[in-house]
Amino acid sequence: TKDWNGIDQVVLRSPHGASARVSLYGGQVTSWRNDHGEELLFTSSKAIFKAPKAMRGGIPICFPQFGNGGSTELHGFARNKIWMIEDSPPPLHLNDSHGKSFVDLLLKPSDDDMKCWPHSFEFRLRVSLAADGVLNMISRIRNVNGKPFSFSFAYHTYFSVSDISEVRIEGLETLDYLDNLCQKERFTEQGNAITFESEVDRVYVSAPNAIAILDHEKKRTFVIRKEGLPDIVVWNPWEKKSRAMGDLGDEEYKQMVCVDGAAIVRPITLKPGEEWTGRMQLKVVPSSFCSDH
Ligand code: BG6
Repeated sequence: TKDWNGIDQVVLRSPHGASARVSLYGGQVTSWRNDHGEELLFTSSKAIFKAPKAMRGGIPICFPQFGNGGSTELHGFARNKIWMIEDSPPPLHLNDSHGKSFVDLLLKPSDDDMKCWPHSFEFRLRVSLAADGVLNMISRIRNVNGKPFSFSFAYHTYFSVSDISEVRIEGLETLDYLDNLCQKERFTEQGNAITFESEVDRVYVSAPNAIAILDHEKKRTFVIRKEGLPDIVVWNPWEKKSRAMGDLGDEEYKQMVCVDGAAIVRPITLKPGEEWTGRMQLKVVPSSFCSDH
């Protein structure tokens, strides 16, 4: 199917009614719905589905850099490129296709990309939807260069929530984080679940491989599992920043939270011929009685 700007999107469907949409622009997942057709990812009502920026929502991919300060644009160029569908990618040494609906995408650097980041790579992305509606993303990045290179990476995931003030994130307690609002100064999180009452923009260092986002009002919990991705980014722009962003409604920060599986604090280095794999799995479950109280 085509998206608003005529760019191809691939729709994945589970036998029970769940679905996911992946745009070839950025390899970005733009929708993930449960068996009842409810959208689980946030998309701004002011999102722009057009180059040169990723649309505000879904799961843009940050590569080869997260944030600014590197040699490429903010969050890297991968989210602003047209990816190709690859019919027969090299085998995944993980049993990921059985009983699933999936698509394989490929990104290789253009001449322009090579000007700001002079490294040859092949970036393979598999997005799959399991019969139970679980969304799986597997990124494989290979160095096809003659010399080593380093990169950072994030699945910049915009979750849809009913009210940010009622949201709690569990799994990051007592971890160290770098605060992007304080020149990346390092702090230590206290023992409680994370809640939101102002702008948050942090990179939690060496986070556990499972994190939960509890949406009290919707009585549901997102479970994020990750492999090869040591860090977790938590971002909510809150009121002032939302007003300054042209592609986000003034009040929409209440309906979103970004929680990204990422590799940022220690960039990944690949020698010639080496490949890195970073995997994220998203699942939504009803909140249990215990976590509700
Ligand atoms: C977050 C960053 O992850 O992404 C923020 O930490 C940034 O600083 C935000 O503003 C959104 O970035 P962009 O380029 O999608 O507007």
